[in-house]
Amino acid sequence: MKELAKISSWKYSKFLSNKRYNFSRKQVLKHLSKQFIDKAYNKISKWKGYSPTPLIKLNKLNKNLKLKNIFYKDESKRFHLKSFKALGGAYAVEDISKGKKNIVISSATAGNHGRSVAWGAQRLGLDCRIFVSQYVSETRVKEIEKFGATVTKVKGDYESSLNECIRQTKKNKWHIVQDVSNKNYKYVPQLTMAGYSIMIKEISKQTNQYITHVFLQAGVGGMAAGSVAGIARYFKRIPKIIVVEPKEAACVLKSIEAKKIKKIKIKKESIMGGMSCNEMSLVPWNILNKSTNHCITIDDSKVSNTIAMLAKAKFSNKKITGGECATPGIISLIAACNDKKIKNLLELNEKSNVLVMGCEGNADATLYNKLLSQGLKKI
Ligand SMILES: Cc1ncc(COP(=O)(O)O)c(C=O)c1O
Repeated sequence: MKELAKISSWKYSKFLSNKRYNFSRKQVLKHLSKQFIDKAYNKISKWKGYSPTPLIKLNKLNKNLKLKNIFYKDESKRFHLKSFKALGGAYAVEDISKGKKNIVISSATAGNHGRSVAWGAQRLGLDCRIFVSQYVSETRVKEIEKFGATVTKVKGDYESSLNECIRQTKKNKWHIVQDVSNKNYKYVPQLTMAGYSIMIKEISKQTNQYITHVFLQAGVGGMAAGSVAGIARYFKRIPKIIVVEPKEAACVLKSIEAKKIKKIKIKKESIMGGMSCNEMSLVPWNILNKSTNHCITIDDSKVSNTIAMLAKAKFSNKKITGGECATPGIISLIAACNDKKIKNLLELNEKSNVLVMGCEGNADATLYNKLLSQGLKKI
């Protein structure tokens, strides 16, 4: 394993154990019900082109870390959208449009959610207006426009784009599809999370090994919470749940630490753009605050290495296209294993079946190519 020698120096930034951990299937499914979860699977699994995304064994990395198995869920193959987000926004569009053809769908997005919404609207022949901040790349804008949506760039950050989207939605009587929930807006985000839980349903059929550890990356927490709900619904045994975030955008860690939703100030945007969020969404908080065992944060320094190592089949026998947000599970798993105390605490050993989520492929091809070439020089 000479090739993987360099990973022995990889480190995490912060580690936190959740003192209030108390997993309860009933509690989790109170916030995202079995009915929501089952309906999402029944609908989406009938879509044209649906098939489960691959569950790949990272056998080379596994040999190095001396675990039983490492499973990588490869969402680069999710429909043709190259990200798990295809399961969320598009499904929410289908549900709320209820077969009507004369409505306009709107959304604000940092990228992947908007693509999913635009694709969902196009599938049903609906008009779609997407709002993005000035920081969203041209590549991502073009990817959304490919699905027939009209994209408006708004000066300022994500919040400015959301405010403008809400303003125009009210004025024009459009139908907004957001993936972030609050006290007064839960139903649509719950639909998106129910869509994400399909990843877990698929995994439960793709291996007969009991998963012992799940590393779930988080932005506002929708993906992590949707996955936890899937675990509560489909897994016979509850694995250890570890939430991973960029160190500058650790809103889940900070909230768990503070025992309430904590808004943070992002001083530096992470390269893992989809995860660079400053405040958790409400439903994810309700699900994650007691079902998360541990939180880990990482910096950006190993993102490009990981992208290159996935592409060059250094972790498995297969070449994998994993974008920036597909890397945190692998990085934090390696970093946890490099710290003996944490490795023992997490009980990461030869009996462990670890699941990491390869959330996206080259969804932003320009950024992917840049990071890949940077990474190739480092590995
Ligand atoms: C591409 C991408 N966008 C966004 C996110 C964050 O999802 P959420 O905001 O639901 O936590 C992830 C995963 O963490 C991701 O891989």
